[in-house]
Amino acid sequence: MSEEKNQKLEELKQQCLSCEKCGLGTGRHNVVFGVGVPDAEVMFIGEGPGEQEDLKGEPFVGRAGILLDKMLTAIDLDRHKNIYIANIVKCRPPQNRDPQPDEQEMCLPWLRQQFSVLKPKIIVCLGRIAAAKIIKPDIRIKREHGTIFKKGGVLMMPVLHPAALLRNPSDKPGAFEDFLKLQELIKTHCEKTYANMEL
Ligand code: URA
Repeated sequence: MSEEKNQKLEELKQQCLSCEKCGLGTGRHNVVFGVGVPDAEVMFIGEGPGEQEDLKGEPFVGRAGILLDKMLTAIDLDRHKNIYIANIVKCRPPQNRDPQPDEQEMCLPWLRQQFSVLKPKIIVCLGRIAAAKIIKPDIRIKREHGTIFKKGGVLMMPVLHPAALLRNPSDKPGAFEDFLKLQELIKTHCEKTYANMEL
């Protein structure tokens, strides 16, 4: 199963690498398709690549990514072991501006196809842009982070974006509480995610 998913993701990635559907493709060094394991039950969705991600071709490898990895480690999650991470847009918006609605819309089919292959049980939206696109357009991230939503049978949780936590460190304890809640959610709804960690 996981080999089949792996192959489908790889095929999708190869198609995505030559995408020129929107203007973001013209300035990119790399398409940032996604990273993780094909049998992930938990999918994290960010906004779009920054400078480091564009250079390396992998999501969340800059300062925000280092913080994200620390928060993931704290609840026994690891991008190479039991989750998948992708972004709303796969190419870096210039000067790290917000991806525009038309860019998000044009890129969304890639994410939808990643979702169709992975079939995650839980989606975690990192920040307002991802939460507004995936959960509900009028999301109030400061007020609603950590809330559990259910859409089409999938559990969804918006959390504060790690880059926002770097700007506002006083929000870190609240963000950490959300991750602890996520850990409990995973324990009750996922079979495989922590299976190897509990040995
Ligand atoms: N911020 C995001 O939303 N995604 C990344 O991949 C990096 C930073």
